[in-house]
This record gives sequence, structure tokens and C-alpha cells, in this order.
Amino acid sequence: MSDASLLPLAIHGAAGRLGAAVLELALASPACSVVGATVSARSDWLGRPLGGEGAVSYRDALAPSLPAETVVLELSRVEALPAHARQAAAEGWPLVVGVTGLDGACEAALAAAAEQIPVLLAPNFSLGIALLKRLAKVAAQALGPDFDGAILDVHHRHKVDAPSGTARALAEALEGAGRSVPIVSQRVGEVIGDHTLTFAGPGERFELQHQAEDRTLFARGALAAAMFLRGQGPGTYTMDDVLAARGGKPAAS
Ligand SMILES: NC(=O)c1ccc[n+]([C@@H]2O[C@H](COP(=O)([O-])OP(=O)(O)OC[C@H]3O[C@@H](n4cnc5c(N)ncnc54)[C@H](OP(=O)(O)O)[C@@H]3O)[C@@H](O)[C@H]2O)c1
Repeated sequence: MSDASLLPLAIHGAAGRLGAAVLELALASPACSVVGATVSARSDWLGRPLGGEGAVSYRDALAPSLPAETVVLELSRVEALPAHARQAAAEGWPLVVGVTGLDGACEAALAAAAEQIPVLLAPNFSLGIALLKRLAKVAAQALGPDFDGAILDVHHRHKVDAPSGTARALAEALEGAGRSVPIVSQRVGEVIGDHTLTFAGPGERFELQHQAEDRTLFARGALAAAMFLRGQGPGTYTMDDVLAARGGKPAAS
């Protein structure tokens, strides 16, 4: 693969649980080149070279001199997101957002950015979860009002937001299909992320479940999202668009 075809990638939050997994995969990938990586201003990683060698080191901000086609992955924190979104929009860098628990300031910054650059919102990088959302809509439309729906979201004890971004997105998808569904969240142990959608009706119960078994699942999805976003026009995208681009037909509306 020639250098021109390599995807230049920059990662915010590169020393976090998710960011480090994405960085490791990206450094090993023949399809991309990591051109920038940020950590918090108090991080021990500041100034160290990525992967222990090479010219790129961890910094507390992305340099404006990065290539114009750089795709930025936002994997840090809600508090840092608005400034990162403004910088990406000003520099023309496509932005993939993996951070969850977005507040009003984040949503406003991302909406403004999406007028200038492509922004992909992925509260869950799993393509399996994108498929679960489609199936959930089909189930909601097919099962009548005799069926009650509920979402169970189970995650590790370190997760700061509840309900999960994925559970919210699932509930919103169902809302769009005319169903209001409550969410129950559990924060226990080291569970990476389980989501279960239950529909219970007279004499039968129907469940759709997704379990994340390995954090590299999210890292692979993050890179797939970055590859997809390269060359897209301004606007807001989701993992459903990534699924569709890989041949998965969109769900019937
Ligand atoms: N979309 C998905 O599939 C998916 C999957 C897993 C997690 N997530 C979400 O991704 C986010 C990160 O999760 P995580 O588990 O990786 O959390 P984490 O381990 O706490 O990582 C966040 C990292 O961001 C750093 N950081 C804080 N401020 C920063 C700044 N201004 N610039 C650059 N880096 C900064 C933190 O550094 P300090 O510790 O020094 O503050 C920390 O290393 C969360 O919102 C989580 O819910 C999404």
C-alpha cells in the first residue's frame, strides 16, 4: 500500500482504556498511519514516543500542522470534547466520536462541527450493536402493544455514565419506531458491556442480546469508522452508515 493511500489518524485520549486499544491496533495496521495522539495535561505519557519508538509522541493537543485529510478519533472525556470538535472543524479534519454521556455543550459543538466536517457519532463501535438496533426496530414494529419492552445495560464498575450511550441510542431507535422502553443499568465487576432488549407478552418472552467479549472489538470498529469517514461530506453519520457501506442493507423505516 503506497503512503498516499495510508489513512492519517489522530487519537484524543490515547492512553485511556479505549484509546490505548485503538492506538495499538492502528500502529500495527498497514492501512493507517498515526500522526497525532493526545493525553491529559497531567499524564505521565506526555512527550513519550508512541509505541516506544518513532517520531510521533504523546502531546496534550493536536498540532494544526497535521495533514488536512487526518481523521480524528475523540476517545477522551466529555469535558474535553467541545474544544476538540471546534479544532477539528476549523482544520477540516473528519471526526469520529466514541465518547459517551454527551452533554448539551458537546451536542452543540458537534452540531456546529457537522456543518463543516463529517462527524460520526458512535456510542458503541460494535457493528453487532448497529445490527441489534435494526433488529430492535423490526421487533418493536412487529410485536403489538400487548408486548412490554425493557433494556438491560450491564457494564464494569469503572464506567462513569449510566445508562450507557448504547442503551440510550437503542431506546431512541425504539422511540422512533413508536415504542417507549425503560432502561435498567447495572455497574458490576469488570463486565465489558452487555445489552439485552426484552419484549414480554402474553405467554411468551422475546430477547435480543449483545455481549462484548473483548475490548479490541471496539478498537476494530473505531478504525472501520475512521476508514468510512475519510472522503465523506459534512454532516452527521453513525455506525449504521458504516454497516450499510459494508453491504448491510438499512432497516426498513
Ligand atoms: N464507543 C464505544 O464503543 C466505546 C467503548 C468503550 C468506551 N467508550 C467511551 O469512551 C470514553 C473513554 O472510555 P475509557 O474507558 O477509555 O476511559 P478512560 O480509560 O478514562 O480514558 C479516557 C482518557 O482520556 C484522557 N483525557 C482526559 N482529558 C483529556 C484531554 N483533554 N485530552 C486528551 N486526553 C484526555 C484521560 O486521562 P486522565 O486519566 O489523565 O484524565 C484518560 O486517559 C468514555 O466516554 C467511554 O464511555 C466508548
